[in-house]
Amino acid sequence: MRKAPIVREKQVTQWPEYDRLEDGLPNYWYPVMLGRRLRRKVPMQILGESVLFVRDDDEVFALADRCLHRGTPMRFAKRDFPGTLSCIYHGWCYDLKTGNLVAALTDGPDCPMIGKVSIRTYPVEERFGLIWIYMGKGMPPPLEEDVPEEFLDPRIVRCIRISDQDGNWRFAVENHFDDAHAQYLHRSSLYATFSRVPAYKRGSRIVRNGKWLEREQDSLHFTADYPGLGRWPKLRFWQKSYGIKVRVRMPGIGMVARKAHTAFKFHVPLNPDRFLFVQVITRKATGVWAWLFRLEYWLIHRWFYHVLFNNDDVLMTKYSHSGQENLFGPDISVTGWRKMCIDEVRTEQVAAE
Ligand code: FES
Ligand code: FE2
Repeated sequence: MRKAPIVREKQVTQWPEYDRLEDGLPNYWYPVMLGRRLRRKVPMQILGESVLFVRDDDEVFALADRCLHRGTPMRFAKRDFPGTLSCIYHGWCYDLKTGNLVAALTDGPDCPMIGKVSIRTYPVEERFGLIWIYMGKGMPPPLEEDVPEEFLDPRIVRCIRISDQDGNWRFAVENHFDDAHAQYLHRSSLYATFSRVPAYKRGSRIVRNGKWLEREQDSLHFTADYPGLGRWPKLRFWQKSYGIKVRVRMPGIGMVARKAHTAFKFHVPLNPDRFLFVQVITRKATGVWAWLFRLEYWLIHRWFYHVLFNNDDVLMTKYSHSGQENLFGPDISVTGWRKMCIDEVRTEQVAAE
């Protein structure tokens, strides 16, 4: 029997300024693939644009995946000379660094189009095992501006999983920072078997910590009597309360700091209905401890955390978030993120300063 297709309606909240950001934020650096995945050419759609990533003499480039002559995708292009790509159709040859047309091979060395047109190129960097791109038009800020400080620490080991997912990036970020879902949906997760998850919190507030938003509260309540219903939840003696810090920052990066490791989640908009979910789990470790952590990652965290536990970050984006919302106390997380996104989104002018 054929499965019924998921019909996705346009996801509109009651926050029009927030909805305007659904295509993604061009003036930020985003991680897009593992460096080792880029052997020669990889085409991708990012923020709705078709981009071709190219490795040439171990340097990485990114350019628009459309030849300026008659639109043939540059993903089919050939390399006739170092540092260039020639479109497969009629041999227009572009410099990878500048995007300038340096030859139109089938019209001789003196073709008048030479130097007159340039294909769009994008700033790219290969750092921390990832390829990063800046989709804005002005001068990019340093990559360090858009990558959490904790992520830059040279003493950390980074274990990465990248998957592309249906849904809008905004709702995945909301889900990451959504407090109440962690207290309900995740209390039965395998990864939380030994965690005592609060039933509810009191005195919750959203506070600023550098570029991050994080939550604070006056008290945690692990069980309670709900009038007319009974006690919820049952306390299990093998479960302990662990201190976990959940944070979010621009351009939609999540962080979960635990004692044992820190997890980062980058949400990279591919188009309004699809995003790249780049999950990185890190721990400070060197030498043999670094290798042991990698082993621990592949045996445990990869499956129980990156695949199963964070499944909701992507599943929830598939459902409609449109229409009337009735927000309750814990939703200060969701509204905090939305407000930050609207108020702090970097414009091109700021980026070019
Ligand atoms: Fe690319 Fe003609 S379409 S060279
Ligand atoms: Fe979750």
